[in-house]
Amino acid sequence: MSDLHGYIDLRSDTVTRPTKEMLDAMYQAVVGDDVYGDDPTVRKLQAKVAELMGKEAALFVPTGTFGNQLCVLTHTNRGDEVLLPESNHILQHEVGAASIIAGVQLRTLDSQDGTIHIPELLRKIRENDIHYPRTGLICMENAHSSGRIVSLENMRLTYDVARKHKIPVHLDGARIFNAAIALGVEAKEIAQYADSIMCCISKGLCAPIGSLVLGSEEFIQRALKNRKMMGGGMRQVGYLAAAALVNLEKMIARLGEDHENARYLAHCLEQIPGIRVCQDQLDINMVFFYLDLPRFNVSSVQEFVEKLKTQKILINGPENNQFRLVTHYWINRQDIEKTYKVFASLCGGFVTNFP
Ligand SMILES: Cc1ncc(COP(=O)(O)O)c(C=O)c1O
Repeated sequence: MSDLHGYIDLRSDTVTRPTKEMLDAMYQAVVGDDVYGDDPTVRKLQAKVAELMGKEAALFVPTGTFGNQLCVLTHTNRGDEVLLPESNHILQHEVGAASIIAGVQLRTLDSQDGTIHIPELLRKIRENDIHYPRTGLICMENAHSSGRIVSLENMRLTYDVARKHKIPVHLDGARIFNAAIALGVEAKEIAQYADSIMCCISKGLCAPIGSLVLGSEEFIQRALKNRKMMGGGMRQVGYLAAAALVNLEKMIARLGEDHENARYLAHCLEQIPGIRVCQDQLDINMVFFYLDLPRFNVSSVQEFVEKLKTQKILINGPENNQFRLVTHYWINRQDIEKTYKVFASLCGGFVTNFP
């Protein structure tokens, strides 16, 4: 299927553009001014997502980063400490925003896959001591950006501990619908273990822009004011909500295809000498792997990425030496087979049939 310019874009599921049906819905959307609260299409979307997540209320926000940071700000006071796995997006990929916007200190839990080790969590929750910051929030992430899902049991245990200590829990659910498919449950079964959730509609669900924040009515009222302060009051945002309403109907149920395609891509890649696929990171639509560069006749990762680009395949460079490819609505089986052929050809192999 590739993109408008014929590229197979495996950099992320954020590259997904809207379908014609979504564009038609945007064209026909009835909108108002969302800062006045009178955009009927945004209100409809917010009510629908709140229902899907089993929460009282929802709020449209521009991005996942905005939504996470809005929740951190709304839950905490300046100087609070936030506990979260060190590998979580809020800490790794949000430009240190929590220290700037909410003025909080992030304290890490030792976890590469998003699973929280309960004894460590208990150890790190602060006692009431004049020297200590207050533990103001615990953050989880599911699906985790390492391509894994966190078990419902781990979420339940974490939430139980948090409630006992009267600490709120925020869930970065950028890919909560992928997690729900992988766990074989509805999104609300995951969402029940958090007080606030951020979910993205601009990733695997193909909306051009947007995320939502969910929580109690009282939390969302406070978040509404903070959203305005952060510059996130977006006026006729119903045009974006209209696309999102289509993708909730059409896109959630098909996310499993992206997961299958990711597994197929992983299976193809592991046939290639010089590639080691990380089999324990294959729960959703992501494939992680290591590459033995010299076997691909290149001297740097940049050269490897450039060579793929000349063959119309887009990938990102590695992070901590690990490459990541992401499948999505605009990647089909032929694209995966072409990717396999090109990777194989770069290390001198010639593919005639597919595994
Ligand atoms: C787990 C996770 N959380 C949050 C975000 C942030 O979303 P955005 O790029 O819309 O700011 C991402 C983006 O990829 C993500 O993977």
